[in-house]
Amino acid sequence: MSEHETTSEGMGEPTRRDFLYLTTGMAGAVGAVAVAWPFIDQMRPDASTLALASIEVDVASLEPGMSLTVKWRGKPIFIRNRTPEEVEAANAVQLADLKDPIARNANLPVDAQATAVDRSGGKGKENWIVMIGTCTHLGCVPLGQAGEYNGWFCPCHGSVYDTAGRIRKGPAPQNLAIPTFSFLSDTKIKIG
Ligand code: FES
Repeated sequence: MSEHETTSEGMGEPTRRDFLYLTTGMAGAVGAVAVAWPFIDQMRPDASTLALASIEVDVASLEPGMSLTVKWRGKPIFIRNRTPEEVEAANAVQLADLKDPIARNANLPVDAQATAVDRSGGKGKENWIVMIGTCTHLGCVPLGQAGEYNGWFCPCHGSVYDTAGRIRKGPAPQNLAIPTFSFLSDTKIKIG
Protein backbone atom coordinates (compact mmCIF):
# COMPACT_ATOMS: atom_id res chain seq x y z
CA MET A 1 0.00 0.00 0.00
CA SER A 2 1.43 3.40 -0.97
CA GLU A 3 1.75 6.29 1.43
CA HIS A 4 -0.67 8.41 -0.64
CA GLU A 5 -3.52 5.90 -0.44
CA THR A 6 -3.10 5.50 3.27
CA THR A 7 -3.26 9.28 3.80
CA SER A 8 -6.36 9.69 1.62
CA GLU A 9 -8.36 7.06 3.45
CA GLY A 10 -7.15 8.28 6.78
CA MET A 11 -8.50 11.81 6.11
CA GLY A 12 -11.92 10.50 5.16
CA GLU A 13 -11.83 11.81 1.58
CA PRO A 14 -14.28 10.07 -0.69
CA THR A 15 -12.75 7.32 -2.78
CA ARG A 16 -13.44 7.12 -6.48
CA ARG A 17 -16.00 4.41 -5.81
CA ASP A 18 -17.85 6.58 -3.29
CA PHE A 19 -17.90 9.46 -5.73
CA LEU A 20 -19.48 7.38 -8.48
CA TYR A 21 -22.04 6.12 -6.05
CA LEU A 22 -23.04 9.64 -4.97
CA THR A 23 -23.31 10.82 -8.56
CA THR A 24 -25.56 7.95 -9.47
CA GLY A 25 -27.68 8.63 -6.40
CA MET A 26 -28.25 12.23 -7.44
CA ALA A 27 -29.13 11.31 -10.99
CA GLY A 28 -31.67 8.88 -9.58
CA ALA A 29 -33.27 11.56 -7.42
CA VAL A 30 -33.55 14.02 -10.32
CA GLY A 31 -35.02 11.29 -12.50
CA ALA A 32 -37.65 10.49 -9.88
CA VAL A 33 -38.78 14.12 -9.72
CA ALA A 34 -38.96 14.36 -13.49
CA VAL A 35 -41.15 11.25 -13.67
CA ALA A 36 -43.34 12.22 -10.72
CA TRP A 37 -44.44 15.57 -12.11
CA PRO A 38 -46.21 14.40 -15.28
CA PHE A 39 -47.78 11.63 -13.21
CA ILE A 40 -49.26 14.10 -10.71
CA ASP A 41 -50.31 16.36 -13.55
CA GLN A 42 -52.23 13.50 -15.15
CA MET A 43 -54.09 12.85 -11.92
CA ARG A 44 -55.74 16.27 -12.00
CA PRO A 45 -59.23 15.96 -13.49
CA ASP A 46 -59.63 18.06 -16.61
CA ALA A 47 -62.54 20.42 -17.10
CA SER A 48 -64.73 17.87 -18.86
CA THR A 49 -64.32 15.38 -16.02
CA LEU A 50 -65.25 18.00 -13.44
CA ALA A 51 -68.32 18.92 -15.47
CA LEU A 52 -69.48 15.32 -15.32
CA ALA A 53 -69.01 15.00 -11.57
CA SER A 54 -72.54 16.29 -11.12
CA ILE A 55 -75.30 17.23 -13.51
CA GLU A 56 -78.45 19.29 -13.22
CA VAL A 57 -81.59 18.02 -14.85
CA ASP A 58 -84.65 20.13 -15.59
CA VAL A 59 -87.70 17.96 -14.98
CA ALA A 60 -90.35 20.67 -15.49
CA SER A 61 -91.74 18.91 -18.55
CA LEU A 62 -92.11 15.51 -16.88
CA GLU A 63 -95.81 15.04 -16.22
CA PRO A 64 -96.92 12.28 -13.83
CA GLY A 65 -96.39 8.95 -15.56
CA MET A 66 -93.51 10.24 -17.67
CA SER A 67 -89.86 9.32 -17.35
CA LEU A 68 -86.53 10.47 -18.63
CA THR A 69 -83.14 8.81 -18.94
CA VAL A 70 -80.03 10.96 -18.64
CA LYS A 71 -76.37 10.01 -18.66
CA TRP A 72 -74.23 10.62 -15.59
CA ARG A 73 -70.66 9.40 -15.22
CA GLY A 74 -71.24 7.06 -18.12
CA LYS A 75 -74.31 5.45 -16.56
CA PRO A 76 -77.97 5.77 -17.46
CA ILE A 77 -80.03 7.49 -14.77
CA PHE A 78 -83.76 6.88 -14.70
CA ILE A 79 -85.89 9.77 -13.52
CA ARG A 80 -89.60 9.06 -13.23
CA ASN A 81 -92.46 11.21 -12.09
CA ARG A 82 -94.75 8.54 -10.73
CA THR A 83 -98.53 8.69 -10.87
CA PRO A 84 -100.45 8.55 -7.56
CA GLU A 85 -101.37 4.96 -8.46
CA GLU A 86 -97.73 4.01 -8.93
CA VAL A 87 -96.80 5.60 -5.60
CA GLU A 88 -99.69 3.79 -3.94
CA ALA A 89 -98.60 0.47 -5.45
CA ALA A 90 -95.13 0.97 -3.95
CA ASN A 91 -96.59 1.99 -0.56
CA ALA A 92 -98.75 -1.13 -0.40
CA VAL A 93 -95.78 -3.53 -0.42
CA GLN A 94 -94.68 -5.03 2.89
CA LEU A 95 -90.94 -5.00 3.59
CA ALA A 96 -91.16 -8.71 4.41
CA ASP A 97 -92.18 -9.40 0.82
CA LEU A 98 -89.07 -7.80 -0.62
CA LYS A 99 -86.17 -9.83 -1.94
CA ASP A 100 -83.82 -6.98 -0.99
CA PRO A 101 -85.05 -5.00 2.07
CA ILE A 102 -82.20 -2.42 1.89
CA ALA A 103 -82.89 1.01 0.39
CA ARG A 104 -79.62 1.13 -1.65
CA ASN A 105 -80.00 4.87 -1.50
CA ALA A 106 -76.71 6.82 -1.51
CA ASN A 107 -78.46 9.69 0.29
CA LEU A 108 -79.30 7.56 3.32
CA PRO A 109 -77.41 5.37 5.80
CA VAL A 110 -76.27 2.10 4.23
CA ASP A 111 -78.70 0.10 6.35
CA ALA A 112 -81.78 2.23 5.59
CA GLN A 113 -84.72 0.06 4.64
CA ALA A 114 -86.34 -0.10 1.24
CA THR A 115 -89.57 1.64 2.27
CA ALA A 116 -91.49 3.36 -0.48
CA VAL A 117 -90.49 6.80 0.79
CA ASP A 118 -86.80 5.96 1.20
CA ARG A 119 -86.71 4.70 -2.37
CA SER A 120 -88.26 7.93 -3.63
CA GLY A 121 -87.32 11.60 -3.71
CA GLY A 122 -88.14 11.74 0.01
CA LYS A 123 -90.99 13.18 2.02
CA GLY A 124 -93.11 15.53 -0.09
CA LYS A 125 -91.35 14.26 -3.21
CA GLU A 126 -92.61 10.70 -3.10
CA ASN A 127 -93.69 10.89 -6.72
CA TRP A 128 -90.08 11.16 -7.89
CA ILE A 129 -87.77 8.24 -8.54
CA VAL A 130 -84.10 8.74 -9.40
CA MET A 131 -82.09 5.55 -9.96
CA ILE A 132 -79.06 4.20 -11.73
CA GLY A 133 -80.51 2.29 -14.67
CA THR A 134 -78.25 -0.70 -14.45
CA CYS A 135 -79.71 -4.11 -13.63
CA THR A 136 -78.09 -5.46 -10.49
CA HIS A 137 -77.80 -8.89 -12.09
CA LEU A 138 -75.31 -8.41 -14.91
CA GLY A 139 -75.70 -4.76 -15.78
CA CYS A 140 -78.24 -4.59 -18.63
CA VAL A 141 -80.43 -1.51 -18.86
CA PRO A 142 -83.97 -2.44 -17.79
CA LEU A 143 -87.05 -1.20 -19.65
CA GLY A 144 -89.30 1.29 -17.89
CA GLN A 145 -93.07 1.05 -17.33
CA ALA A 146 -92.75 -2.65 -17.96
CA GLY A 147 -93.01 -5.98 -16.23
CA GLU A 148 -95.46 -7.52 -13.84
CA TYR A 149 -95.34 -4.58 -11.41
CA ASN A 150 -95.34 -1.90 -14.09
CA GLY A 151 -91.98 -0.75 -12.77
CA TRP A 152 -88.96 -1.90 -14.73
CA PHE A 153 -88.23 -5.13 -16.51
CA CYS A 154 -84.82 -6.42 -17.53
CA PRO A 155 -85.22 -8.56 -20.64
CA CYS A 156 -81.70 -10.02 -20.40
CA HIS A 157 -82.64 -12.66 -17.84
CA GLY A 158 -86.08 -11.61 -16.68
CA SER A 159 -85.55 -9.49 -13.56
CA VAL A 160 -88.68 -7.63 -12.49
CA TYR A 161 -88.56 -4.40 -10.47
CA ASP A 162 -91.57 -2.65 -8.91
CA THR A 163 -92.56 1.01 -9.18
CA ALA A 164 -89.95 1.86 -6.53
CA GLY A 165 -87.23 0.03 -8.45
CA ARG A 166 -87.11 -2.79 -5.92
CA ILE A 167 -86.25 -6.24 -7.20
CA ARG A 168 -89.27 -8.51 -6.95
CA LYS A 169 -88.57 -11.45 -9.27
CA GLY A 170 -85.75 -12.87 -11.36
CA PRO A 171 -82.03 -13.31 -10.79
CA ALA A 172 -81.04 -9.73 -9.85
CA PRO A 173 -79.95 -9.69 -6.19
CA GLN A 174 -80.49 -6.02 -5.30
CA ASN A 175 -82.79 -3.08 -5.80
CA LEU A 176 -81.72 -0.61 -8.47
CA ALA A 177 -79.19 1.74 -6.86
CA ILE A 178 -80.11 5.32 -6.07
CA PRO A 179 -77.32 7.86 -6.72
CA THR A 180 -76.58 10.95 -4.67
CA PHE A 181 -79.09 13.57 -5.73
CA SER A 182 -80.95 16.60 -4.42
CA PHE A 183 -83.68 18.96 -5.52
CA LEU A 184 -82.32 22.40 -6.36
CA SER A 185 -85.91 23.51 -6.91
CA ASP A 186 -89.23 21.79 -7.54
CA THR A 187 -88.24 21.25 -11.15
CA LYS A 188 -84.49 20.90 -11.04
CA ILE A 189 -82.59 17.87 -9.78
CA LYS A 190 -78.88 17.77 -9.18
CA ILE A 191 -77.34 14.34 -9.57
CA GLY A 192 -73.95 13.69 -8.04
S1 FES B 1 -78.79 -8.41 -16.48
FE1 FES B 1 -80.81 -7.97 -15.89
S2 FES B 1 -81.64 -9.91 -15.50
FE2 FES B 1 -79.61 -10.36 -16.03
